[in-house]
Amino acid sequence: MQNKKRSLTGDRPTGRLHIGHYFGSLQSRVKMQEDDSIERFVMIADVQALTDNFNNPQKVRDNVYQVLLDYLSVGIDPEKTTIFLQSMIPELAELTVYYSNLVTLARLERNPTVKTEIAQKKDLFGESVTYGFLGYPVSQAADITAFEGELVPVGEDQLPLIEQCREIVRKFNSIYGETLKEPKAVLSSNKRIKGLDGNEKMGKSLGNAIYLSDSEEEITKKVMGAVTDPGRIRKDDLGNPDVCMVAYYHGLFSKDEVEKICEECRAGKRGCVDCKKQLAKNIIEALRPIREKRKYYEERPELLEKILKDGTKKAQEIAKETMRKVKESMKLNYFDE
Ligand code: TRP
Ligand code: SF4
Repeated sequence: MQNKKRSLTGDRPTGRLHIGHYFGSLQSRVKMQEDDSIERFVMIADVQALTDNFNNPQKVRDNVYQVLLDYLSVGIDPEKTTIFLQSMIPELAELTVYYSNLVTLARLERNPTVKTEIAQKKDLFGESVTYGFLGYPVSQAADITAFEGELVPVGEDQLPLIEQCREIVRKFNSIYGETLKEPKAVLSSNKRIKGLDGNEKMGKSLGNAIYLSDSEEEITKKVMGAVTDPGRIRKDDLGNPDVCMVAYYHGLFSKDEVEKICEECRAGKRGCVDCKKQLAKNIIEALRPIREKRKYYEERPELLEKILKDGTKKAQEIAKETMRKVKESMKLNYFDE
């Protein structure tokens, strides 16, 4: 156990997860479970979710369970991966306070991820962003270091946050002595997938996503509304699958058939409606085991609670140990406990 590397990653529970998350991160987390040299942690980041949803606690609470169901349904196995809840680890808040001395406002304001997000959240923050939101990279550094997460599997958008964490670690170690481990980002090799509307990104707010929890009817409805080659009006018009989202998704879900599909499209021998029906059927089939597993867990709320409780308990023990080391280094170890 001792010389195993730890990996830590997480998601903000602000919505259900979709197939973009599946190809982007969930699949590689499941795969990582085969590697016995890594001790894995996945955190449901409800505290971080509140930084831009402080006015909507019910939404965060509901989505904690949705995200947990998403994890379990894709095969994140609580026997192999510790799943825990951020708000149940008070040490994370405590570390955040200590780390906040080690980072300047200017540095936080320059963080590209934070910058982009603030620009997107004008409605919520108006002209002046909250202290909590601006500081979330500090709290994320607490998340990572509390578990000595040397490996942090994340998407590209998170790189500036990992870099910020590394800076905090270096600063901490240089002032208080070698205490914390510097983490490394592990970029998932999987690509980001485009939305059904052709947008480069699939996202909840963009309304172009297929959720892992979507019903068969919802999947069909969404696929029937996908963007196809706009130049094609009649079935025998020659098509261009390169500009068609249906063809793009066939590439993900109909691997054996995609070549033939594109050929027929180019030759004007394929109707878009049938082409979409075929895709909907394939996506429904691919997601069937995920839907079935979700149903299994949905019917067992006491099991869900146990998974979260057990994981959180394990995480608490580790965070406590890190906290002890940090306080010792900072000369805050007043009473022997
Ligand atoms: N910022 C991450 C996201 O929005 C969630 C997160 C919180 C996280 N703490 C983390 C990711 C620690 C990796 C490590 O998706
Ligand atoms: Fe797209 Fe299929 Fe229509 Fe071709 S036939 S444009 S691949 S939906």
